[in-house]
Amino acid sequence: MENTKELEDFLEKVAFQKLKKMLFENVGLNCDGYRDEYLRRRFDVRLKATGSQNYSKYIIYLKKNPGEYQQLLNDLTINYTMFMRDNDVYLYLEKILLPKLFASNPVRIWSAGCASGEEPYSLAILAHKILGEKIKNHQISIFASDIDKDALLKAVKGEYQKKQLCGLSEGIVNEYFTKIGETYRVRDFVRSLIHFEQHDLMKEPLRRNLDLILCRNVMIYFAKESQQLIHMNFYNALREGGYLITGKAEMLSGEPSRKFAVVDIRTRVYQKPKQVNVVDQIGIIQPNTKITVWDFKEI
Ligand SMILES: C[S@@+](CC[C@H](N)C(=O)[O-])C[C@H]1O[C@@H](n2cnc3c(N)ncnc32)[C@H](O)[C@@H]1O
Repeated sequence: MENTKELEDFLEKVAFQKLKKMLFENVGLNCDGYRDEYLRRRFDVRLKATGSQNYSKYIIYLKKNPGEYQQLLNDLTINYTMFMRDNDVYLYLEKILLPKLFASNPVRIWSAGCASGEEPYSLAILAHKILGEKIKNHQISIFASDIDKDALLKAVKGEYQKKQLCGLSEGIVNEYFTKIGETYRVRDFVRSLIHFEQHDLMKEPLRRNLDLILCRNVMIYFAKESQQLIHMNFYNALREGGYLITGKAEMLSGEPSRKFAVVDIRTRVYQKPKQVNVVDQIGIIQPNTKITVWDFKEI
């Protein structure tokens, strides 16, 4: 009996690893970055939904029903989001960070893990709100990416139901959305700032020289080492002095926590420090000597 249980546990462990491999081979999702307990929780949801008693049975189900891969992918990449998620973060963006960035031109922003688009559209709305007519003189690009094709399709469509607009005032809704029946469509001038693209955060960033990266409420699914790898990718994709905003439940750890400077811990705003030339003791600049300074006092 004891031996049978041990054998079952062993087979389940093997099946769990096989499931991860099948996901990579069939839909390109690299599960290695995700925490195992997170994967198990999400797999278990699909086991229940398909009436499979264990991972081995679920593998058989997947082989017979390839359409199930998409269901599993949808369950793994939870897309919950909302416009202007976390008031204080968007207040910080509107009053402090974006006006500071808009003092330069062009401005390049990346919304990484944008789900159905509420985050990049919120940024585009703020850009219009802050700059008004002057936006014509600015070159603002908001790159918005997600691994989930279905979520991205919704984002590109830019159509939302009333209850999805709950983070927005009536004035904002009237100014930046067109009501078509019961649906609210983001207006073209807002949408035109955004470039949507499919991207897996476990891969190299698609853009460089960025002024600001928002990657909020995405890292919670990833194992610590993958979080650190992704945050270092962000570090390298930012220009010197560029900013990173994470989710409120997410903290930097390891190398990224030493590389980034904390600008505002409450809203999780970090900065890639600027490198400046060092003036030596007798006042001569040593051109090849670089020192890191954190310019969060500027804000
Ligand atoms: C909870 S939503 C967060 C949306 C938005 N950033 C926010 O804070 O409201 C998490 C998003 O991360 C995406 N995601 C999960 N794993 C990913 C990966 N490996 N690469 C890119 N996006 C990923 C999911 O598809 C999902 O849309």
